[in-house]
Amino acid sequence: MSEVESPAATAPLSTAPLSTYETSAAVIAGREAAFEARGLTKIYHMGEVDVQALRGIDLALYEGEFVVLLGPSGSGKSTLLNILGGLDIPTAGSVRYHHHDLTAAGESALTRYRREHVGFVFQFYNLIPSLTAEENVALVTEISTSPMRPDEALRLVGLGERLHHFPAQLSGGEQQRVAIARAVAKRPSVLLCDEPTGALDVRTGIVVLEAIERINRDLGTTTVVITHNASIADMADRVISLSDGRISGVKHNTTKKSPHELEW
Ligand SMILES: Nc1ncnc2c1ncn2[C@@H]1O[C@H](COP(=O)(O)OP(=O)(O)OP(=O)(O)O)[C@@H](O)[C@H]1O
Ligand SMILES: [Mg+2]
Repeated sequence: MSEVESPAATAPLSTAPLSTYETSAAVIAGREAAFEARGLTKIYHMGEVDVQALRGIDLALYEGEFVVLLGPSGSGKSTLLNILGGLDIPTAGSVRYHHHDLTAAGESALTRYRREHVGFVFQFYNLIPSLTAEENVALVTEISTSPMRPDEALRLVGLGERLHHFPAQLSGGEQQRVAIARAVAKRPSVLLCDEPTGALDVRTGIVVLEAIERINRDLGTTTVVITHNASIADMADRVISLSDGRISGVKHNTTKKSPHELEW
């Protein structure tokens, strides 16, 4: 069961009250906003040409929420995720993570923000080939304040029996789960995933989604997953659709499906 909300007719100004999306989400989630974005705009200057990747995004994401971000290629999904994760900065508008103003932050503050609060998972796992699964995760835990043990993080994603395997000795889905263990071992409050199942077959994709769901549920990590696969949307609390740099729809799932119940 789900209900579809229509987009707000006009984009609110930065001082405007919460938009339709945010008000209903607040009621639904009953939680504190982790992120609040207002009028988020991103323009890439490419020589003579300006590419407008985001055209005024107003958005709140709530503590512990599982959000799926859908939209056609080029609609601005990765741009939005990168700005939330402090990998990029908007051209205009504002974005706040709790009391951190990510718009005003300098490079070193953004680096600290990413290190302390954000775990990233990308389509391609970016593991170091000469290090075992456990050593790949240890790279992160060695520089974190209160991390899990690498083996603990790997057990969380079902890889307790693969600690000493090198990436070349792991399947694609296992490599992606090592990447997830690496992202969550520092106990980030936010997990941002850009097409985490994009390179995987259905069955393997489901195992990876189960690992992400478990982290969201057991650790309460606010989770955003970008996907082209609309069926993954059924496991989210909220599904946000982007189209040409704007939010074109927000859907709230009153019941969530577990990954093995998804129909691909
Ligand atoms: N670094 C960049 N320099 C110039 N243009 C960029 C850059 N990054 C993204 N763009 C442009 O901004 C728009 C949005 O890109 P973005 O990567 O956010 O889309 P996306 O929704 O993630 O697409 P996909 O599903 O293909 O990954 C696209 O038109 C893209 O060409
Ligand atoms: Mg993308």
